[in-house]
Amino acid sequence: MSHLPRGPQGRLLTTYQFLTRPLEFLSRCAATYGDVFNMPMYNGDVVIAGSPASVQDVMTAPPETFVPYAVKSIAPLLGEHSLLMLSGERHRRERKLLTPPFHGDRMRAYAAAMADVAARRFAEAARAPRAVAREITQAISLDVIIRAVFGVEEPHRTRAFARAVVAMGDAVTPALAFLPILQRELGGFGPYARFRRRVGDLEALLRGQLERARAAPGDDILSLLVSARYEDGSAMSERAIFDELRTLLFAGHETTALALAWALDHAHRDPAVIARLRDEIDALGPEPDPERLAALPYLEAVCKEALRLYPIATEVPRLVAQPFRLGEHELQPGTGVAPCVLLVHHRPDLYPEPLRFRPERFLERKFSPFEYLPFGGGNRRCIGAAFALFEMKIVLGVALSAWQFQLLDERPPRPVRRNVTLGPSGGVPIALRARARSALRAA
Ligand code: HEM
Repeated sequence: MSHLPRGPQGRLLTTYQFLTRPLEFLSRCAATYGDVFNMPMYNGDVVIAGSPASVQDVMTAPPETFVPYAVKSIAPLLGEHSLLMLSGERHRRERKLLTPPFHGDRMRAYAAAMADVAARRFAEAARAPRAVAREITQAISLDVIIRAVFGVEEPHRTRAFARAVVAMGDAVTPALAFLPILQRELGGFGPYARFRRRVGDLEALLRGQLERARAAPGDDILSLLVSARYEDGSAMSERAIFDELRTLLFAGHETTALALAWALDHAHRDPAVIARLRDEIDALGPEPDPERLAALPYLEAVCKEALRLYPIATEVPRLVAQPFRLGEHELQPGTGVAPCVLLVHHRPDLYPEPLRFRPERFLERKFSPFEYLPFGGGNRRCIGAAFALFEMKIVLGVALSAWQFQLLDERPPRPVRRNVTLGPSGGVPIALRARARSALRAA
């Protein structure tokens, strides 16, 4: 039995092609080597699982089979208590604590705030003759996290938090993210020292918010974390709370923004899609109730299809910690294994005409968690999945109900990597005009 499946040769060339042309490169490898192949990356071998059966093997393996991938380069950025860094019992315990605020009634409590933020940000963007969809959606998803996760409501404090988050994000250059050697403070100089200072600025603001949450808990996730207790009755430390908040920002902010920018673009490239979507949304009347928006089936299908066609995370890697059998291969500890969201989502046997944006597929049939996995799966599935989909439906619904969009670039955007995510090249330039119905109401 072989340890590694076949695959392309050359670590640097493979890494380069994977980073710069993911769609073409992964599809070419699958066509040449089959559903399961090895990618020799610059930092080690990663076995790609590109079929539902191989994805299922990874997602249903006992949790102790794997540990998080690339901990060395990510831990200094997110903190050692980050959920993304934990494994085993600590991971299970922390997930149990963090998951409930993103579901059910607690999640639905943020509907009105999501709708308000979206209405305000699109109205602001409409003042300019030209806007970039990704910048609007990025501002929206950041405001939503600052409100729902940090519990900040006052506009001037929201702005201070937003500035601190953006400054911290700007300090993470791709070199800093991928080269652990740069992640040293070097006597206060260099990119890592700058990043640490920006983290310090954000944490100073968060400390104030933590005190407020202790004195008067709100409905936000920070307040819930302050009062949350592990199974043994102990509370989270301040350090752990800060690391988790930074993780939620990192995992939830840009991802949701990119997914929304893609959805706006796709929906407007097919007149039949946008017409059906508007009909469904308009049937709820002017200024639709956000929770009713979130229950619209075609709107949901549009969001799901956007996440299928160009998933924000193209693969979800893990590091093998105990020998793991994948088909005819016995993978050894230290090997990476990555269910490939992109390859599975582009299989013509599951999704006929896979490169076509066709939301109806999600109304016609159900897909298993191993056939549709934009939020990963198994014991590491995204804890913000329901929250992100809820936010996407409300933001798109509010936007389409009030505004007419024109895509300013005739050519569809290409999927390009932004750090670890896949976003639309150019960010989707658009022009916005108030819809006649809302213009009449305003008159
Ligand atoms: C459209 C938006 C989003 C997408 C596409 C997305 C996608 C993903 C993916 C692919 C993973 C890895 C899953 C795996 O390894 O199997 C993940 C993990 C995670 N996501 Fe999301 N996510 C989104 C939004 C959010 C939001 C809004 C939050 C919270 C505010 C969030 C929090 C997390 C966390 C904490 C993890 C780590 C889970 C763990 O390791 O146990 N995500 N997400």
